[in-house]
Amino acid sequence: TAASLMQLSFRNITALAPMVRVGTLPMRLLALDYGADVVYCEELIDIKMAQCHRVVNDVLETVDFVAPDDRVMFRTCEREKDRVIFQMGTADPDRALVVARLVEKDVAAIDVNMGCPKEYSTKGGMGAALLSDPDKIEAILKKLVAGVSIPVTCKIRILPTVEETVSLVRRIEKTGVTAVAVHGRLKEERPRHPVHCDYIQAVAQAVSIPVIANGGSLDLVKTNADIEEFRKATGASSVMLARAAMWNASVFSNQGPLPVERVMEEYLKYAIQYDNNAFNTKYCLCQMLRDKVESPLGKQLQAAQTSAEICKAYGMQELFQQTQERLQARRDTLQSSTEP
Ligand code: FNR
Repeated sequence: TAASLMQLSFRNITALAPMVRVGTLPMRLLALDYGADVVYCEELIDIKMAQCHRVVNDVLETVDFVAPDDRVMFRTCEREKDRVIFQMGTADPDRALVVARLVEKDVAAIDVNMGCPKEYSTKGGMGAALLSDPDKIEAILKKLVAGVSIPVTCKIRILPTVEETVSLVRRIEKTGVTAVAVHGRLKEERPRHPVHCDYIQAVAQAVSIPVIANGGSLDLVKTNADIEEFRKATGASSVMLARAAMWNASVFSNQGPLPVERVMEEYLKYAIQYDNNAFNTKYCLCQMLRDKVESPLGKQLQAAQTSAEICKAYGMQELFQQTQERLQARRDTLQSSTEP
């Protein structure tokens, strides 16, 4: 169809940033509902993904990438197919390509994480470690661009000087990537440090591919209107939000913001519908509660060990029960239709 042939644009968009544990299917669908144009999945490590099998899940109507231990590493569905960007952690061009090809038909673009400063990433040469190895960056991106038919992008942090940052992004641009996301912090800087809009601006002026500005959640982007301000302040094509979206995904809505209680309920509906891992659901809801984790609801949530208990904390046990029954009925129908 025309829609599926239409390539994703990275200009003038607002994106849900990649976030480990937060960026699973329920959060991505919620962000799309509120108006995000593009949603990144959590960073998935190439070695783990390369071991996964692609499984069509007829019960949930999803496509699952399942590890040998039966854990679902990545779950996606038709609704986000033209919007979801698969972010991987990699330090190896060949393995990166294997993984990109595995998911290529189910996602809108492939992104490489070059900004994660955590030791588990950098010690394998992944994440921010790539920033000091531009030859490796080039090898990975060129291999991906040549090897897949969907857009390839990357997400970086800034380097110590504007000049170094600009020259790195110029080199990245030459690999043929479709866009580059720039988190305006040095790899040594913590999330509470102010974001360097001037670095992002210099990059945006220096290259012709779309630049996606990131890093504004703490002090610059609190409301939907602030997204445009951040875009202007950085001169970037587009904006990507992590924490602001994690705390209240309705930041993407120009009708918002909605009370976080409402957002949590909408989140939980998707978590139930897509049979999200209970601990993942709990983690995301705790992030949304922020300083309210000690409230009565927060305490009940923290005590919950199963999806049923989480739903009970929100008074949504009935929806949970109904959904379980509906899914079981579907399972039974599918089972009997495949029996000889
Ligand atoms: C992140 N960040 C991140 N970045 C990335 O490229 N891949 C990832 O998997 C993650 N994981 C992650 C988890 C959580 C809980 C947070 C808060 C952040 C970094 C994130 O995408 C972003 O670059 C920074 O948070 C700065 O943007 P904000 O928060 O100021 O909008």
